[in-house]
Amino acid sequence: MSDEKLQNVLSSLSPVARQLDVPPSGRPAPDSSYVKLDTNENPFPLPPIVMQGACAALERQYLYPENDNISLREAAARAYGIATDHVIAGNGSSELLGLLYRAFLTPGDRVAMLSPGFSFNRKLAMLHAAQLLEIESAEHHSLPIEELLSGSAADAKFVLLANPNNPTGAFVPLADIERLLARSDRLIVLDEAYVDFAPDNGLRLLSRYANLLILRTLSKSYAAAGIRVGFGLGHPALIGRLRNIQNVFSMNVIGQAVGISILSHRAAYKDNHRHIRDERQRVAAELSQLGFCVTPSHANFVLAHAPVGQDGRWWQAALAKEKILVASFPDKSLESCIRISIGTKDQMDAFLAATKAISARTRRAVASCAPYPADRQDTDMRAG
Ligand SMILES: Cc1ncc(COP(=O)(O)O)c(C=O)c1O
Repeated sequence: MSDEKLQNVLSSLSPVARQLDVPPSGRPAPDSSYVKLDTNENPFPLPPIVMQGACAALERQYLYPENDNISLREAAARAYGIATDHVIAGNGSSELLGLLYRAFLTPGDRVAMLSPGFSFNRKLAMLHAAQLLEIESAEHHSLPIEELLSGSAADAKFVLLANPNNPTGAFVPLADIERLLARSDRLIVLDEAYVDFAPDNGLRLLSRYANLLILRTLSKSYAAAGIRVGFGLGHPALIGRLRNIQNVFSMNVIGQAVGISILSHRAAYKDNHRHIRDERQRVAAELSQLGFCVTPSHANFVLAHAPVGQDGRWWQAALAKEKILVASFPDKSLESCIRISIGTKDQMDAFLAATKAISARTRRAVASCAPYPADRQDTDMRAG
């Protein structure tokens, strides 16, 4: 292949695409002997009734999926108690996050997010040559409203709040979010990816605040991360603008069918959600006894600070040698942390056994840490 031709082609790339290095081709996915607790999936099968819908959808493989996801949007509207034109559906909520960046940002614009927050937003901001303001909060369990309204955040095009937050699992009261919505004229994006494991949700605020857009996903609480179904809920004038700029056929027939079926059978996941909350409590309590400080979590994962002097990346590598995958983070404030997704009892037993064995081997002094609080009764969501 001619080098000159290649250089000519590459010189036509946009400035953003040109500045990024070609990524490594990547490693093969870990085989099934690994216990995968690093990306907050929900490792349970689909309920049989939902599975039947998925198989039936395969018979429509030769057709393009329904345009504009109308039936899926209708199903979501019914489930969430709103009108269909308040709903956009997408290939996971990450597609919808990307649409928001495309809809609102031109190079140099700002977006504000609580820190630490969902790191995918860093990539999206970079791809849009936007500045991501990561607003630190001294308190994980309340909103730094003044900081989000003032200073460099004052002219952000939108504010991103994940509630419960990733990677902390912290949940801020809806009253805080309502105060921010009332005082701000900007779009507030409330990312409720983990809300089914939390005590409350923001749906009731939709009819009161036109500047609210809620994101939901079936990836976490409905065990469908690989199927890719997410929703944006908000004012029809905004939702319609997002639908205008969405790629045609970004979802497929299986995602559409499984999405509709899951939304009609949400009660079938009650035991799953209870299991995750119970295991979350057990794992957090046992980690505390091993000297980890665990941030109280309302999601399907826990963020654990390793005992004093130990490092998150070190723990991640040590656990990977035992075939247990957990997440660690490059952020300074999270250097000592690992994030562990809550999976099946067997998976969590394997994680705890490996963690105990590694702790025993390191024979480090265990710093004292407040015991993990008793279960805070995160109950099933009220509506949606
Ligand atoms: C806070 C948050 N929002 C959105 C997503 C994206 O979810 P999906 O694209 O699978 O719907 C994730 C996934 O980890 C997340 O943690």
